[in-house]
Amino acid sequence: MIYNNKIAIIAVNSIKITGYCDKQEVGMKKLLYVLLAAALLFAAGTSLFAGGQKAVEGEEEVDKSIEVLHWWTSGGEAAALNVLKKDLEAQGFEWIDSPIAGGGGTQAMTVLRSRATAGNPPAAVQMLGFDILDWAELGFLANLNDLAAKENWDAVIPEALKKFSKYEGNWIAAPVNVHSTNWVWANKKILDELNIAEPTTWNEYIAALDKAQAAGYIALAHGGQAWQDATIFDGVVISTGGPQFYKKALIDLDQNTLKSDTMLEVFKRMAKLRSYVDDNFSGRDWNLASSMVIEGKAAFQMMGDWAKGEFFAAGKVPGVDFIAFRTPGTQGTVTFNSDQFVMFKVDESKRAAQRAMASAVLSPTFQVAFNTVKGSVPARTDVSDAEFTIIGKKGMKDLAEANKNGTLFGSLAHRHGAPAAVMEAIYDVVTAHFNGEYGAERAVQELANAVAAAQ
Ligand code: BGC
Repeated sequence: MIYNNKIAIIAVNSIKITGYCDKQEVGMKKLLYVLLAAALLFAAGTSLFAGGQKAVEGEEEVDKSIEVLHWWTSGGEAAALNVLKKDLEAQGFEWIDSPIAGGGGTQAMTVLRSRATAGNPPAAVQMLGFDILDWAELGFLANLNDLAAKENWDAVIPEALKKFSKYEGNWIAAPVNVHSTNWVWANKKILDELNIAEPTTWNEYIAALDKAQAAGYIALAHGGQAWQDATIFDGVVISTGGPQFYKKALIDLDQNTLKSDTMLEVFKRMAKLRSYVDDNFSGRDWNLASSMVIEGKAAFQMMGDWAKGEFFAAGKVPGVDFIAFRTPGTQGTVTFNSDQFVMFKVDESKRAAQRAMASAVLSPTFQVAFNTVKGSVPARTDVSDAEFTIIGKKGMKDLAEANKNGTLFGSLAHRHGAPAAVMEAIYDVVTAHFNGEYGAERAVQELANAVAAAQ
């Protein structure tokens, strides 16, 4: 079994490193996920059994330390995380930090897979969407029902989040926030200097990018990493085809929609955006791209609202130094992702710390303190927007309206649209096309094939 685990992990990772997959590789990847799942299930069975034997009421020791695995390593992210760390420390818990750099969590999830298969998972882990459900299905996650009932989570967590916080009716995750991905961040000084009004349509946006480029600025700050390319893709899909097209293509994974002329146009628009990116974009971290806008080297960045945390950390003021608007053509639609903390079934002695952490992240005061720094909005529906800036208020309003109008969708790029295997297959195609490996016609075909193979 251990042998299988190693093979599965190493093979899955090496396929990722080689980058773009053909159909066979995707099939192989799928097989390896199945293998990995089987290996993990076995490991879960053994460690849970061991944990169960220790659970003697009243006799267990209390371990006040808690290891937290996360990918919040940029300036804004670290400042937000510090709010949680301080909260737990004030309650007498010791925070053991396990940061795994890499936006979007790709690297963090790889590390988690190896630690869990080695029988050594961290007590608490930052996690997104379908990954939560996958780990729950494998039996690794602690049940938080008691706490959820005591604190009445059911009444205050929106349904869209509960879909990922609960597995088979049981609470298995504590949501920290709601982010959304269809945003553009802009340097206000550059816009004023070039007389650029906030673009509301795709054509206006292209005209604005053209103007910034012609004036010698980097028009679009971007980091060439698959998850960043996919983050842009979320918005371009909606902007080109509308909200129902996004749903059919990236959530329902409908083959005809994936192969449609509209999808061809999506890839053409992606190629157009590529023409506004500077030559050094490859591999650049997202927060460095945000810095380019903050420092006035670049005009725009298309990124989730965690970018706001970077502007705040740099002391920038919304409406004065920077503005944010929905990806032109996506107004009224929100592609969301919610960071949640899951508690792994580790030694009983860690239960108190895990419980304290889950309770802390759901407390209304923490929700305000954390989310005003992070750039996200609260995961609870009963928190006032009074402490939030103009962009945070807009984020909360957009979210509530999209939820009411049926235009709130999980972000594909951030693990809330489709399970990891499908998401990664889409990443590969979007990135290959963005890097000029092939044109729009082939990208459409590759996309449909990759999705079919990964399902
Ligand atoms: C997470 C954010 C994080 C961003 C960049 C997203 O997937 O939800 O919390 O700031 O990745 O790392």
